[in-house]
Amino acid sequence: MPKPVLLVTRKLPAAIEARCAADYTARLNEADTPRSPADILALAQGADAILACAADRIDAATMAALPVSVRVIATFSVGYDHIDVAAAHARGIAVVNTPDVLSVATAECAMLLILAAARRAGEGERLVRAGKWEGWAPTQLMGTLVSGRRLGIFGMGRIGRELARMARGFGMAVHYHDIARLPPELEQGAVYHASDETFLPACDVLSLHAPGGPGTRHWLNAARIARLPRGVIVANAARGTLVDDEALVAALKSGHVGYAGLDVYDGEPNVNPGYLAQQNVVLLPHLGSATTETRDAMGHLALDGIDAVLAGRTPANLVR
Ligand code: DGY
Repeated sequence: MPKPVLLVTRKLPAAIEARCAADYTARLNEADTPRSPADILALAQGADAILACAADRIDAATMAALPVSVRVIATFSVGYDHIDVAAAHARGIAVVNTPDVLSVATAECAMLLILAAARRAGEGERLVRAGKWEGWAPTQLMGTLVSGRRLGIFGMGRIGRELARMARGFGMAVHYHDIARLPPELEQGAVYHASDETFLPACDVLSLHAPGGPGTRHWLNAARIARLPRGVIVANAARGTLVDDEALVAALKSGHVGYAGLDVYDGEPNVNPGYLAQQNVVLLPHLGSATTETRDAMGHLALDGIDAVLAGRTPANLVR
């Protein structure tokens, strides 16, 4: 029996590409060239499955134009706001993602952003690299402790809960806001806020962990920023679309937000130039899940999902 045809939109870790090549007639992307929707449509001709990434936009128009041969799209990410899932389902195309396996890595990245922001690591790194460091000084680049501070987590899903676990180790008090309160075994003593009104003023540090998409677009806007305590630290390792960049840049300029740590951007890889002009923001290039172990696990989970759909089974990581 011929192997199913798999379109892989971007270069993947070696172990994952090896599995793709062993189990599929794999159309790999050795040069890691970013694929436009038109590229994906052209390359998907005759494919049974597509293994896409968070950087690939598969909207309703692209979905409608995919060849009938495509039965499943796996995204090498937990977030699937770049895929029109309703349009996929309307076409009978299954969508699978990579939950759980990246929760620790992404939470570690959020903790990194929080610590880097609190301790002004971005400024320090830039100072040393520029050859401008003149030696230790008692008042140089003084930041703030995170220990004893209140961490507010917006979106207490798997990644938010991992961050809460790590933050407790740093002596932070965890508060959270989500659509529903968690059971005590998941809440682990975190303080639930049903509304922004009580949540936002309780954040010395605010870390965003909600999914992207229209429902959360620009959730962190000027009105919500105004409710945060002056000097708050804001971290975002979720989706750039959660933040109204103009509002956050204005707050960084005024000092209402003391520092921000960002790993994701609205319209990435473009970054709002307002951030680049500010010293009090540390910027990473969407590294949340970028560890070797995590990316291997994501690839295997994505392929497990494709295998299951093509074999007529329901994968555990099916997006519903
Ligand atoms: C995800 O999994 O959604 C990440 O943002 C991609 O690394």
